[in-house]
Formats: sequence, structure tokens, C-alpha cells
Amino acid sequence: MSISESPHDMRSKAGDDLEESLLKRALSGNIPVHVGIVMDGNGRWAVSRGMKRSEGHRAGVESLKRCLPALLRLGIRFCTFYVFSTENWKRPREEVQFLMDLILEYAKEDRSDFIRQGIRVIPIGRWREMPRQVVQALSRLAMDTASGDKLTVLLAVNYGGRQEIVDAAKELAISYVGREKELQAAGEEEFRQFLYEPSAPDVDLVIRTSGEMRLSNFLLWRAAYAELVFLDVLWPDFGPVDLYKSIIEYQGRERRFGDVGRE
Ligand code: IPE
Ligand code: IPE
Ligand code: MG
Repeated sequence: MSISESPHDMRSKAGDDLEESLLKRALSGNIPVHVGIVMDGNGRWAVSRGMKRSEGHRAGVESLKRCLPALLRLGIRFCTFYVFSTENWKRPREEVQFLMDLILEYAKEDRSDFIRQGIRVIPIGRWREMPRQVVQALSRLAMDTASGDKLTVLLAVNYGGRQEIVDAAKELAISYVGREKELQAAGEEEFRQFLYEPSAPDVDLVIRTSGEMRLSNFLLWRAAYAELVFLDVLWPDFGPVDLYKSIIEYQGRERRFGDVGRE
């Protein structure tokens, strides 16, 4: 250690070393194609610090931003972030309003960062039912990042897994009007074409922070065979190290898809 290095520098260097070694380990294994993240615990993070819940949501956006370079370094192709659920409308009006404003701010201010990093952003869910300004900002974000080819980030906004299935069933029914015979023959692959953003494949790994062990209506169809990793970390404290550890945990799982296990 040189004389100019403070204990803080030492700590962050140890942190960097840990991060790099976990990344290296993760990269030596099988990388999931599609990861879903339930970003939970913003409220508890803020309350435990004597702050307002809204401050937790703001800190949560910073966590999301920190995650993006880590996803890119891992070479993950698709990542869905659970931003706002169809059930979150039950929250106090001021919290819902704050979240709308935050989504709007993020969609506008971070557009150039997404473009610079080669990230394509696609909103999924009943996001077109959000306030007009939010819809406009998300549409513009999707349009302006459409050529990003390194990573696709799906933002689940006013998203519900059951609603996705209902919406897909309706679309499918409409598209088969007058073709009842073909409808009889339609199966999972035909149905899948009507999910939100059908180009996104099945989810390999769902990560949920905050210690809660449930899906809360997240990606029900695509997560049918996902590995689930639940972390005791609150979302605003989540960083690249937690992501790399989750990938390593995933790599240790045996995915059997109903088949018999490895001998
Ligand atoms: C997740 O954090 C963010 C959203 C649901 C929008 P929470 O706000 O659910 O945080 P907790 O679970 O109350 O701590
Ligand atoms: C899930 O978290 C939704 C998002 C992270 C956007 P919630 O905090 O809303 O889930 P529950 O209510 O604990 O199941
Ligand atoms: Mg929560």
C-alpha cells in the first residue's frame, strides 16, 4: 500500500478484487440467456434509515443503473426488471404518483446512457394505460434504443403475469377467428407468439431481493422452468457482486425440465 492510500481506498480495492474474481468465476460457467429481477425492498431500506419510502425508490433506480454494466460484462442477452406491478396501484396515491414521476424521469434522462451502452429497452405490460407522459417517454425510449444489440432490457411497467396470459389469450382468439380447425391444432408455440414481446425467450433465472420468497405475479408463463434465487439484500443495496453471486448459484443448479437427473 502506498502512503497516499487511505483505509477507504483499501476497502474499495478489496471490493473491486472480489467483484472481479466473482465475475471471472461466473464467466467460466453457463450464462443464462434471460434473467428476471424482482427489485424488492426499497421501502424497507428507506424506513430502516429513517427516510421516506420514496427515497428508497430513488436509491433503487441507482441500483438498476449499477446493474446494467454488470449484465453487459456477463453477456446476458435479456433482462426483465419488475418496475411496477398491476397490483402496485393499491399503494397510497402519493407513492404511486412518485413512482410515475420517477419512471418518467428515468426514461427521459437515461436515454443517452442506454444508447451509449448498446442497450435496447422495451416496455412490457399494460404500460400504455399509464399517464400519457409516461407512455410517451417509454415509447420514445424504445424507439431511440431500438438498434441496441448488446442487451435487451425489458421494463415491466403496469405488468402482471396473469394479465399477460389473459391479453395473449384474447389476441390469439381474435387472430384465429374463422379458423377454428387451426385453433384446435394450436399449442404452446402458437400461444407464445401473443405474449408481450414474443422475441424474449423463456426466463432462465429469477432473482428476487428483500428476502420475500414469492413471484408476485411476475413472468408467470416464461418463468415456468426458471431457477429462483432469493436474496436477503434489499434492492437499493444490490450491486454487481450480488448479481455475480446469483449467477454462480444458478450455475450450481441442475435443470432437469422434468427429465431424470444426471447420474
Ligand atoms: C419495490 O420495493 C419497488 C416497487 C414495488 C415499486 P417496495 O416498495 O415493494 O419495498 P418494500 O417491499 O415495501 O420494502
Ligand atoms: C413486486 O413487489 C413488484 C415490484 C417489484 C415492482 P411487491 O413489493 O409489490 O410485492 P408483494 O406485495 O410484496 O408481493
Ligand atoms: Mg415490496
